[in-house]
Amino acid sequence: MLLPHRKACLEKHIQTYIQAKGGWISFAEFMQKALYEPTLGYYVSGTRKIGKDGDFMTAPEISPAFSQTLARYCESVFHATSSPASILEFGAGTGTMAADILLTLEKRHALPERYYILEVSPDFSERQLDTLRHQCPHLIERIVWLSTLPKNFTGVVLANEVLDALPVHLFEVQKKITLQKGIALESQKLIWRLGSEVDLSSVTDISNLEDGYTSEYCPAIYPWLKDLYTSMLQGTVLLIDYGFLEHEYYHPQRDQGTLMCHYRHRAHTDPLLHIGLQDITAHVNFTAVAQAAEKSGFSVDFYSTQEKFLVDWGILEETNVHQLSLEEQYGYTQGLKKLLLPSEMGELFKVMELKTPSMFSNIHSS
Ligand SMILES: C[S@@+](CC[C@H](N)C(=O)[O-])C[C@H]1O[C@@H](n2cnc3c(N)ncnc32)[C@H](O)[C@@H]1O
Repeated sequence: MLLPHRKACLEKHIQTYIQAKGGWISFAEFMQKALYEPTLGYYVSGTRKIGKDGDFMTAPEISPAFSQTLARYCESVFHATSSPASILEFGAGTGTMAADILLTLEKRHALPERYYILEVSPDFSERQLDTLRHQCPHLIERIVWLSTLPKNFTGVVLANEVLDALPVHLFEVQKKITLQKGIALESQKLIWRLGSEVDLSSVTDISNLEDGYTSEYCPAIYPWLKDLYTSMLQGTVLLIDYGFLEHEYYHPQRDQGTLMCHYRHRAHTDPLLHIGLQDITAHVNFTAVAQAAEKSGFSVDFYSTQEKFLVDWGILEETNVHQLSLEEQYGYTQGLKKLLLPSEMGELFKVMELKTPSMFSNIHSS
């Protein structure tokens, strides 16, 4: 389907949905449809999303050193589980991370039993199959695509830039109360409209926030983690994403929230533009993630910056740079800078590690 036609179909579909729901929907409902509506949503359709000719870049596409370092972490977890371990990757994008992790583990004689991919986008699943068939055809039988969580999973769960893609609710502070912000219809156009009051006392204290303060919260995280916990026998979960703790997330100066759209490598804040053709994301409130994880049964074992996690797990020792040509050395160093520097991804991106109670607490970086 041609892109303008697809955009028009999705907009029409959302308009009909709003009418059927009485003229107003929450932002989370809008985001769910814009990103995941079957055949029409951004993540479901066939446009190129990740990479230079897409809309945004992610760490595995920037440098293989990212996935090679995660592979070392996985190997260490495998040593600590009491039965053979697998990897479960959520939202595996182009499949690059899966390929680099498997090839690294193969070299280290530490392949997982299975590499499961749980992906909601049929388009991405196809792309993953292409990448993996091309990069590691001899390992393809170990890779299993799932549409639901596995049962009794043992091993490592990986989610790089997945939490930021879960639909969020928006709120606006008015006269010391919080109102839901949603989408309505006016003259056949989608517009913003405030909805009814919502109690956010379990999310944050709004008493020091001015009128007009807008931000997000993500109720989808708790059911996501709870289902994941139920599916796991033993293991760890590594959540990697951009975000902050609650006091920074709801800082009075961050008065327009963290909602961002990505369209052809341009970031902007209007989700009502390019509907179905652009990514919509929100930063992750890691305090809320930790609370949801603990309520689900996990314990939070590590939380820090991407830079600290990758350096702890040996990213700077990963490659003998002297074996590379000068041009390759330059490319490799540029990739490391993007992953590690505070002005790039090093500080804004965080890593949170969760463990099941049955997991040994003595995983050390090697
Ligand atoms: C921003 S992309 C990141 C892709 C990849 N992890 C990377 O780092 O390049 C978000 C991915 O999460 C997937 N996704 C979103 N919600 C999901 C869910 N509930 N379960 C599994 N995958 C999901 C999307 O389809 C997409 O593949």
